[in-house]
Amino acid sequence: MNIVLLGPPGAGKGTQAKVLARQVKLPHVSTGDLLRANVAEGTDLGRQAKDFMVKGLLVPDTLIQEMLRTRLGRDDVGQGFILDGYPRTLRQAQALDDIMSQFETQIDFVFNLKASEAVIIQRLSGRLVCSSCQANFHRTNMPPKAADVCDACGGELYQRSDDKEETIRKRLQVYAQESAPVIEYYRCKGALHEISADDDAHGVLTKILALIGSHHGSLKV
Ligand code: AP5
Repeated sequence: MNIVLLGPPGAGKGTQAKVLARQVKLPHVSTGDLLRANVAEGTDLGRQAKDFMVKGLLVPDTLIQEMLRTRLGRDDVGQGFILDGYPRTLRQAQALDDIMSQFETQIDFVFNLKASEAVIIQRLSGRLVCSSCQANFHRTNMPPKAADVCDACGGELYQRSDDKEETIRKRLQVYAQESAPVIEYYRCKGALHEISADDDAHGVLTKILALIGSHHGSLKV
């Protein structure tokens, strides 16, 4: 089963993808996490991507495509994946279809997580991420048990450099310009499911699992 999570920055794609990955036992593939790992390791790709990311702009397709093709070619993706952060442009959606044809599979579910701008700004400006295992927290919505320490692995929590209000607004602008055609692309294919993501994380997960369950049998939160 191959699942794509669409939605603006802060809609909760990463949060849902991580829980869903455990629930349906499929790997979470996040292009943002892959890029941040490259930046942290100082790879060529990371050095080239960093400037775009810090400014809230999309990293050029030439850098992204090969990274994703390599990731989706790994053995752990054999039974499927939960893709978060890709595709963000029509060209990326078409490139994903090419990769799916090459691997003789298809996208089964596309969930478009919709959140209001006020909710997005509140979520991103309070987000904390584990520097070790990438678990997500929020200063007020989902606080860690101990300040700045990851509940899952004890790693140090940090604020992403693109989670400043000015950069958040730029990312939202880029999302509005580039990603509307992607939503239409999947709507036309009949794969799109719209999910209101302003609810709490458990409520959003329940809606996603109900939709998957209606096609693949019952799944409980
Ligand atoms: P990426 O890492 O993909 O960031 P994004 O799409 O901007 O999305 P976010 O990770 O900010 O938000 P999210 O929806 O995952 O929210 P989260 O679950 O964390 O990309 C970063 C950059 O990399 C891009 O700007 C671009 O430069 C580059 N890039 C990546 N992919 C690319 C591509 N395909 N092409 C080109 N460039 C690419 O939740 C946010 C916060 O809210 C958390 O604190 C969480 O705890 C909280 N929260 C989540 N859900 C709820 C809820 N339901 N209720 C209350 N709080 C909640």
